[in-house]
Amino acid sequence: MYVCLCNAVSDKAIRKVIQQHRPDSLKQLRQLVPIGTDCGKCIRQAREIFEQEVAILPEIVEVA
Ligand code: FES
Repeated sequence: MYVCLCNAVSDKAIRKVIQQHRPDSLKQLRQLVPIGTDCGKCIRQAREIFEQEVAILPEIVEVA
C-alpha cells in the first residue's frame, strides 16, 4: 500500500528502511526515504508506521 503518493513510497519500503537503518526519529527517517516532501499528507501515517516498527525492533545489546 502506498503511504506517500507524491513520491510513490510504500509502507513496505518504509518498514524495510526502519529495520535496516533504525532511525531514531521521524526526522531521521525522512532523511532516508522521500516522505512528506511535497503535500505532507503522508506524515501522519508514516509516523504510525515508524512507531509500530520501533516498538517491535529488537534491542541492540552492546557487548564490550
Ligand atoms: S503524500 Fe507524501 S508528500 Fe504528498
